[in-house]
Amino acid sequence: MWPRESRLCALAAVLLLLACRELDETALVAQILIPQGAAATAPQAAAQTQINPRLLRRFLPARASIARADLALSPARIELGRLLFHEPRLSKGQDISCNSCHELQRYGVDGQKTSQGHRAQRGQRNAPTVFHAAGHFEQFWDGRAVDVEAQALGPILNPVEMAAPSPAYVVDVLQSIPGYVQGFALAFPHEPQPISLGNVGKAIGAFERQLTTRSRWDDYLEGEAAALTAPELAGLKLFTNLGCMVCHTGEFLGGSMYEKVGAVEPWPNQQDQGRYAVTRLDGDRMLFKVPTLRNVGETAPYFHDGTSDSLEQAVRMMGTHQLGLTLEPPEVAAIAAWLRSLTGELPERYVSRPDLPASSERTPRPDRS
Ligand code: HEC
Ligand code: HEC
Repeated sequence: MWPRESRLCALAAVLLLLACRELDETALVAQILIPQGAAATAPQAAAQTQINPRLLRRFLPARASIARADLALSPARIELGRLLFHEPRLSKGQDISCNSCHELQRYGVDGQKTSQGHRAQRGQRNAPTVFHAAGHFEQFWDGRAVDVEAQALGPILNPVEMAAPSPAYVVDVLQSIPGYVQGFALAFPHEPQPISLGNVGKAIGAFERQLTTRSRWDDYLEGEAAALTAPELAGLKLFTNLGCMVCHTGEFLGGSMYEKVGAVEPWPNQQDQGRYAVTRLDGDRMLFKVPTLRNVGETAPYFHDGTSDSLEQAVRMMGTHQLGLTLEPPEVAAIAAWLRSLTGELPERYVSRPDLPASSERTPRPDRS
């Protein structure tokens, strides 16, 4: 049986979905398909494609930092986290950092179907973006870490990712680098042992909480009707009316719930059963975290299994598998156009590569075995 909350959530989702699908789809398609070349300027478009303001209230503009009251996000801690995010010496082979699979200059992804870790081993899942991840209700496709602070420790010790042999190894490496001894002391003042695995997670988390982007979508949500073009608005209207937003909602257009992939038509690849691996509840089979759609135009390939190379194909597959709808090419194009308007500007001061502190003679040598 499902726990009570997930049953309630599922019920609420189904009801909302039904409510959305009651709309007359034919009329809808006619409404949204603004003739090409109609030179619809954005304000005209806004008038033509009236979006229900009550629906718009379910989205929120991006914040500059995803803060949490109980965490001290001091500049020293954020800067330490930035160094650690790029630090290959945390890996056994000293050749892989967080940035290897979540390249900040590529919107936090590696562009591969599944990522390559220690000794070129590959995991089973596509690397999601680290941008806005700090705001998700839980981490990983299956939610097996509660927040980015806890999540960061997973890949460092994961044998197919960074493969650090033990927490003590990570502490030893950092203790051997004078720049880090100083950096941890500044980031965790008054702590007798500033260098610990837990504090590595806290520092990386503090940094990840700064990884947000603002886009024209945010301007639009803040009332600038002209921020989106006519085709983009048509796409937004489809997205809200067809029911995509039942799952992709809130500030991140995702990251707030688990949903079954293949809710209507079974997902082609049933190998990875998603959240079931964490809970072992039958009702959790094929449940995956609904991913954020911010910057989705830049984060191909798509889905937990990386099965889709193009955004258009991903949109079509969502229509079929999540909604039981065959989307027409102009609908797919409009939705994809709007999704591309969610691409924000990368924050230069956080994505540029830092100079890492120098090793000492006590720093362990790389081990590629
Ligand atoms: C070898 C590639 C690789 C490396 C190295 C790596 N990651 Fe990941 N990361 C992944 C993959 C793949 C996933 C998805 C795994 C899953 O959901 O089971 C992931 C998931 C995440 C998530 C969850 C995002 C979400 O939407 O749920 C965050 C945050 C993250 N990684 C941050 C980091 C940090 C911080 C580091 C460095 C300490 C790191 N990663 C190192 C590949 C990598
Ligand atoms: C019932 C919930 C639900 C609905 C409705 C839904 N999605 Fe999704 N969406 C998901 C889930 C869950 C995933 C992740 C699936 C996976 O990777 O296995 C996802 C993934 C995506 C992705 C891939 C993102 C990435 O980074 O890999 C895109 C794009 C997307 N959805 C767009 C849409 C669009 C457009 C619609 C409407 C046509 C839609 N979704 C409707 C739940 C939903």
